Amino acid sequence: MASTTSRFPHPITLAVDIGGTGMKLMALDARGNPLTERLRTPTPNPATPGLMLAALDKMRKEIPKCDRVSVGFPGVIKQGKTLTAANLHPSWVGFPLRNTLEKRWQLPVHLANDAAVQGYGAISGRGVELVLTLGTGLGSALFTDGHLCPGLELGHHPWLKGNTYEDFLGRRGLKKFGKKRWNRLLEKAITQTAMTFNWDRLYLGGGNAKEINFKLPSYVSTISNEDGLFGGVALWRFQG
Ligand code: BGC
Repeated sequence: MASTTSRFPHPITLAVDIGGTGMKLMALDARGNPLTERLRTPTPNPATPGLMLAALDKMRKEIPKCDRVSVGFPGVIKQGKTLTAANLHPSWVGFPLRNTLEKRWQLPVHLANDAAVQGYGAISGRGVELVLTLGTGLGSALFTDGHLCPGLELGHHPWLKGNTYEDFLGRRGLKKFGKKRWNRLLEKAITQTAMTFNWDRLYLGGGNAKEINFKLPSYVSTISNEDGLFGGVALWRFQG
């Protein structure tokens, strides 16, 4: 275990970002400053709760003592349960992740959709703000004046030719269509979501945001992969 956290402002948050390809962990002080490196381990295959929790246990041993936990999960979350998990093993459906982690780690846990956590770390809290994360899946989170509209799953919404947004813009789409076409599709999606949601600002995050090769309009910005973890402190503020 890494050194003590006693000299840093508490509460210390253990921020966990669960992804379809990788799982990340970081300790943050009360102001949201990182106290550790961002640790990453590949998501086990099959991506079952048992194997993934064991991998998280192992990474957690590298992190100093924390007071509470924030988790971003790639699926719909209700009442601490994971209701969908499109890019993980189906045994996640209905899994009581919050209670399981609270018992396992003996710490209070807040749990939310991964794009929502990322959004909490990035938004201004003014107007209509949409966050899209470009990773294994396509994450989406919509905020009005800083309030999350829970449960938006734009990634699974039909879009072009009977395919979903995620089919085009998720990892499978990037692989299938190549970087050039994927970028054109992303430009199209920006226009489409502007017409659908009339957002004031759009944030693009996730591991594949680095593949964007066109000039973004001034009201669209990219956010760092670390925001997926930094949002962990804000999650406690909003859900606290
Ligand atoms: C899931 C979303 C998630 C996104 C990014 C989608 O397949 O349905 O809940 O936010 O992937 O991980």
